Amino acid sequence: MKLSDTLTLNNSVSIPRLGFGVFRLTDPQEGEQALESALECGYRLFDTAAVYGNEELVGQVLNRSGIPRKELFVTTKVWIDELGVKETKAACRKSLDRLSMDYIDLYLIHWPLFEGAAGAWEAMEELYAEGLVRAIGVSNFNVDQLDRLAHKATITPAVNQVEFHPHLVQKELQEECHRRGILLEAWSPFIRGKIFSDPVLQKMAREQGTGIGPLVLRWILQKDIIAIPKSATPKRIEENFTALDIALSDAQMAAIDELHRGEHLGPSPENFTEFFKGIGLL
Ligand SMILES: NC(=O)c1ccc[n+]([C@@H]2O[C@H](COP(=O)([O-])OP(=O)(O)OC[C@H]3O[C@@H](n4cnc5c(N)ncnc54)[C@H](OP(=O)(O)O)[C@@H]3O)[C@@H](O)[C@H]2O)c1
Repeated sequence: MKLSDTLTLNNSVSIPRLGFGVFRLTDPQEGEQALESALECGYRLFDTAAVYGNEELVGQVLNRSGIPRKELFVTTKVWIDELGVKETKAACRKSLDRLSMDYIDLYLIHWPLFEGAAGAWEAMEELYAEGLVRAIGVSNFNVDQLDRLAHKATITPAVNQVEFHPHLVQKELQEECHRRGILLEAWSPFIRGKIFSDPVLQKMAREQGTGIGPLVLRWILQKDIIAIPKSATPKRIEENFTALDIALSDAQMAAIDELHRGEHLGPSPENFTEFFKGIGLL
């Protein structure tokens, strides 16, 4: 089963199916090496955020890569301390400055902090109209939070980026997003490394003659969900990209679905304010 390299957002913009996440890639040398390896393998979608502290690094490596800007797809996110009409417009301009780019491909509200989210969405619609962002979306929104946003919004989010992996198969959210024309994007597809010790996946990967990384990514891609794995290791970056070339049967897809445990890695859309207060981020 051959998958297309891209999916189409609800405003007709193309988005690569498989991207590269850069959370915690802040060491310049490590970050540069990882980003360059990713570009060389063929990754074109890069997922950063204001709060990751590496937009400058991402911009530097992408801008000097020689790859035309229109072939790259850059996502960044507004953090919870910059939600609001004025605040979010200013935050976007700061991200553009740090990236040294004229536009962002996909701009997301990082977490659904509702005191500011309605104002932030208004700002994002204006940024979209001004052409500073090619698509706008959200991250970590549950169905109720999508409903609340829909009451204020003129534009439907193009993407909802959420935690999604074999131990957290968000089936209802996926169906609901699909119904509304919102693409789901899976963050922490490897549960930040924890997935590699899952015995069912170890056995399946051995039988398939592939690694657990490509296996899990392929399971996500075959659901028409975008995946943004992170790795600082060139060999793993290359291995993960082979997810585009393998294929899983319906039985394998169902067997991975069954690993669902409803486990969130850390904060969830329901408890993130307490979580971030606890670690001093709110
Ligand atoms: N919107 C949000 O709220 C949100 C939250 C979290 C993450 N994200 C995004 O999602 C991206 C991915 O999530 P994540 O960074 O949390 O974690 P992840 O992609 O689930 O896992 C990364 C970990 O897996 C390891 N790894 C990667 N490929 C491997 C392979 N083939 N074999 C063995 N180990 C492998 C990496 O190790 P090495 O690096 O040492 O190779 C790293 O420790 C982030 O970078 C970020 O862009 C978004």
